Amino acid sequence: MKKDLLSLSDLTPKEIATLLRRAAFHKKQRKRIGPKAGMSILRGKSLGMIFEKASTRTRVSFELAMYELGGHAVCLDGSSSQLNRGETYADTARVLGRYVHGIMIRTYLQKNLEELAKASEVPVINGLSDLHHPCQVLTDLFTVQSHQKDLAKLKIAYVGDGNNMANSWIEAAHLLKFSLFIATPKGYEAPAEIVKRFGATVRFSHDPTEAVRGADVVNTDTWFSMGQKVEDEKRQAFKPFQVNRVLMGLAKKDAIFLHCLPAHRGEEVTDGVLDGPQSVVWEQAENRLHVQKAILEMLLRKS
Ligand code: CP
Ligand code: NVA
Repeated sequence: MKKDLLSLSDLTPKEIATLLRRAAFHKKQRKRIGPKAGMSILRGKSLGMIFEKASTRTRVSFELAMYELGGHAVCLDGSSSQLNRGETYADTARVLGRYVHGIMIRTYLQKNLEELAKASEVPVINGLSDLHHPCQVLTDLFTVQSHQKDLAKLKIAYVGDGNNMANSWIEAAHLLKFSLFIATPKGYEAPAEIVKRFGATVRFSHDPTEAVRGADVVNTDTWFSMGQKVEDEKRQAFKPFQVNRVLMGLAKKDAIFLHCLPAHRGEEVTDGVLDGPQSVVWEQAENRLHVQKAILEMLLRKS
């Protein structure tokens, strides 16, 4: 198994399956025994977390996952760390590796992560970059499996921006061979390098109705990712891609709605869908905790 988790391709399909099984185990144990059920798993281990972008779920779930596995997490705010004053990612990795057993970073460019990981003796986890959000999509797969079991038999729709979430979904479909339909407005497609490497079996279009019709899972994300300019022109282009009751009505009756959150109510999704009976977004957010535990134990146990 690879040292780092920079994108989903760092995992094999078998490792993903193991990881999702462990997440289910952690979820069950926490419910049955309580948050301290796994306290011996990472006893004495620590995680350094660097956030160069905002976070609610990723920060809390990683920090609590470390705590509940018996370890500890130290959080560095990018803007108040020496990274902000020009210390390189490589030097930061060399130093942090002397203190901690793993590093989780949320950053902008994928090459920042790569530089950090290359110089780091301890595992590096991508907690979101402009290009990928692997930990989130692992949680999404876990959430889908908990509801509908066999990924291979499902139609999964992603409607919205060709961003980090879309990219990690494309990689997931490539690795796990499920049927993924992606609908983006013209000019907002997933990057060509991702489509070329991983998109052979994915159905790309500019038609949200085609993507959602008959889908088992409908997934969307913000129109403006962190670090992107908010432009009215983009907002207009995305209006037909809003997941509202009419669009959701084209999916299967028992389809579920996913959103990594934070949601921008009235933009990419309406209150009716987000708060409606098909939405599983709160459970999805909770699942971040169980999946982070599985990721951390897989990567940090031996470090
Ligand atoms: N979905 C997600 O990564 O949420 P945060 O930005 O709050 O961490
Ligand atoms: N695409 C969003 C995801 C937030 C969790 C962003 O990068 O801001």
